[in-house]
Amino acid sequence: MEIFKQIAPLKAFINAQKQRGQSIGLVPTMGALHAGHLSLIEASKRQNSITVCSIFVNPTQFNNPADLLKYPRTFDKDTLLLEKVECDAVFYPDSSEMYPETSLIKFDFSHLDKVMEGKFRPGHFSGVALVVSKLFNIVEPDHAYFGQKDWQQFTVIRQLVEELKFNLTLHSQPTSREADGLAMSSRNLRLNEDQRKNATVFYQALLAAKNALHAGKSITEARVLVKEIVEQKTEIKLEYFEVAESKNLNLLENVKDSDQPIMCIAGFVGEIRLIDNMFLN
Ligand code: PAF
Repeated sequence: MEIFKQIAPLKAFINAQKQRGQSIGLVPTMGALHAGHLSLIEASKRQNSITVCSIFVNPTQFNNPADLLKYPRTFDKDTLLLEKVECDAVFYPDSSEMYPETSLIKFDFSHLDKVMEGKFRPGHFSGVALVVSKLFNIVEPDHAYFGQKDWQQFTVIRQLVEELKFNLTLHSQPTSREADGLAMSSRNLRLNEDQRKNATVFYQALLAAKNALHAGKSITEARVLVKEIVEQKTEIKLEYFEVAESKNLNLLENVKDSDQPIMCIAGFVGEIRLIDNMFLN
């Protein structure tokens, strides 16, 4: 497996592959890899001749400096995992390689980045769009893979790709879950034993909300139920529970107004912020 810290040799590697007619799959990550990331690598390997995984904890998408500082960084373990699944190349740049100058560009995705994650993490999706645009320009992938856990991120990136005419196909892969249902996330590494046990309530709350909504309860009633379930555990606080039209993230007041509603949840376990989501149908 090739490891690139600089853009120029990575581009030379990609160009050589392209000249040989190889297709390129890109899996952008911030490292602290888990089985969810590996399933994205495997999806890419099935569809492409060469798979590139990027590992970069992107400072411009963190609205909370403490969160950036504490984000888990486990590069040695990550490379072992990537070697095991036979990833072809890793792009592991420093901040100075990705941001040689302070960036002046800000993205605005209208309502797509004003609700849910965008409301509670101002500037987050601008930073995501910036780094993903750079990665797409550097790697020029034919296919790029993202996890469904970050559904709002996927929707924003889809808009980016459509509007800026990036010549690639996007893929959203189903969320990988632990045995008790907790959505896999690099941030789970920061949970202590009790917090880890309790963190499964986000998944349980989504299941309960799904049942309630299918039984004809309103979204307001489902939100009350979700808050009750989540906050019965010590140290857990609900930030939001929303039901949105999955295509355009319009928030719903009635699930009947939507073809494909998605329930989205975010909250804190101690100081660690987790998100999850589930399609209703
Ligand atoms: O989902 C992530 O891990 C990050 O937001 C991404 C897409 C790698 C951009 O930094």
